[in-house]
Amino acid sequence: MKILVTGGAGYVGSTLVPMLLQQGHRVRVYDSLKFGGQGLLPCCQNRFFELVKGDVSDLGGLKSALEGMDAVVHLAAIVGYPACKKEPHLAQATNVDGTRNLLSLRKPDQKVIFASTGSIYGAVPDYICNEKTPRAPITLYGETKATAEQMVLDAGNGIAYRYATAFGVSNRMRLDLMPNDFTYQAVKNKSLIVYQGGFKRTFVHVRDMARSMIFALEKWDTVKDDVYNVGHETMNFTKEDVARKILEHVDFYLHFAEFGSDADQRNYEVSYEKIRAKGFETTVDLDRGIAELVRAAQLIEFQNPFANV
Ligand SMILES: NC(=O)c1ccc[n+]([C@@H]2O[C@H](COP(=O)([O-])OP(=O)(O)OC[C@H]3O[C@@H](n4cnc5c(N)ncnc54)[C@H](O)[C@@H]3O)[C@@H](O)[C@H]2O)c1
Repeated sequence: MKILVTGGAGYVGSTLVPMLLQQGHRVRVYDSLKFGGQGLLPCCQNRFFELVKGDVSDLGGLKSALEGMDAVVHLAAIVGYPACKKEPHLAQATNVDGTRNLLSLRKPDQKVIFASTGSIYGAVPDYICNEKTPRAPITLYGETKATAEQMVLDAGNGIAYRYATAFGVSNRMRLDLMPNDFTYQAVKNKSLIVYQGGFKRTFVHVRDMARSMIFALEKWDTVKDDVYNVGHETMNFTKEDVARKILEHVDFYLHFAEFGSDADQRNYEVSYEKIRAKGFETTVDLDRGIAELVRAAQLIEFQNPFANV
C-alpha cells in the first residue's frame, strides 16, 4: 500500500513509519519538521521511504503529497494541552483547519486514520468512559481534537482512534509524557515528587499505537467509519502506581506531595472493549515499557547552560 503519514517525523510517527516500511508499504511523510527530522534517519536506508517537508496549512503542498496514496495516517498536530495553550491560534490552524484541508483534498477512496485522544472525555468523575460517553474536553487540545475527529467521521471512509496517554521509547523522544518524564527524573535526578498521586490515567505504549494503525489498514472494511478507544484496561493506573512501578527498576527518592497540584487535572478510566471485540489487543505492559525507558534515560543527556556542573 502507499501510505501518507502527516506529522510522521514526530513521537508516534517515528515509531510507525519504520514499522510500515518493514511490512513492505511505501511511505511518504508530510511534516513541517517542527522538532526536526532525526527520528526518521534510519528510514532513509529504505528506498520506499520519502520525506516531503510541508505544512498541513499549505493546500498545494498537501494536494501533491496526497497524489497516488491509498491511505493517510493523520498525525500532524500541536500535541498536548500545554503546547496548545501556548500557541492557541496555531493549534486551531493545525489541528482543526489542517484536518479540514486534508479531508477536502483527499479522494473519497483514500482511507483516513485519525489520531484522536482520550482528552476529549475531559475530567469524568467515577465513571468508566466508553465511546458513547459524551465528549466534554476541558482543554483547547481536547477541543480541537474533538472537532477534528467529528469531521473525519462525517467525511466517511475514515476511522478515529482515541488513544490513551502514550508512553515508551520512540526514535523522536518525548519527555513530557508522564511515565517518560517520571522515569527520566528517577534515573537522572534520583528523586521524584508526585502531586495528586491518586489520580487515574490510562496508558498505551507507542508501539501499540503504531500497531493499531496497521491493524486498521489490514481490517479496514470491518473497522471503518467508527471511533475506538485504544489502550487496555490493565493499563489504567494511578500516578502513584506508575511511580512505584519505576521504583521496581530504579533506586530513587519518591515523595508524594500533599500540597500543590498537577496542571493536568484528568482523572479517568476508559473501556477498550470495542476495539478488542474487533480483534485488537495491546502487547506492551507498563513494566516492559518502563524497563525500556530506564535504558533510554541513560542515553539521553540535557545540557543546562547555566549550571557549573
Ligand atoms: N503522544 C500521545 O500521548 C498521544 C495520545 C493521543 C493522541 N495523540 C495524537 O497522535 C498524533 C501524534 O502525536 P505525537 O506524540 O507524535 O506528537 P509530536 O508533536 O511528536 O508529532 C507531531 C508532528 O506533527 C508535525 N506538525 C506539527 N504541525 C504541523 C503542521 N502544521 N504541518 C505538518 N506537520 C506538522 C510536527 O513537526 C511533528 O513531527 C497527534 O495527532 C496527537 O494528537 C498522541
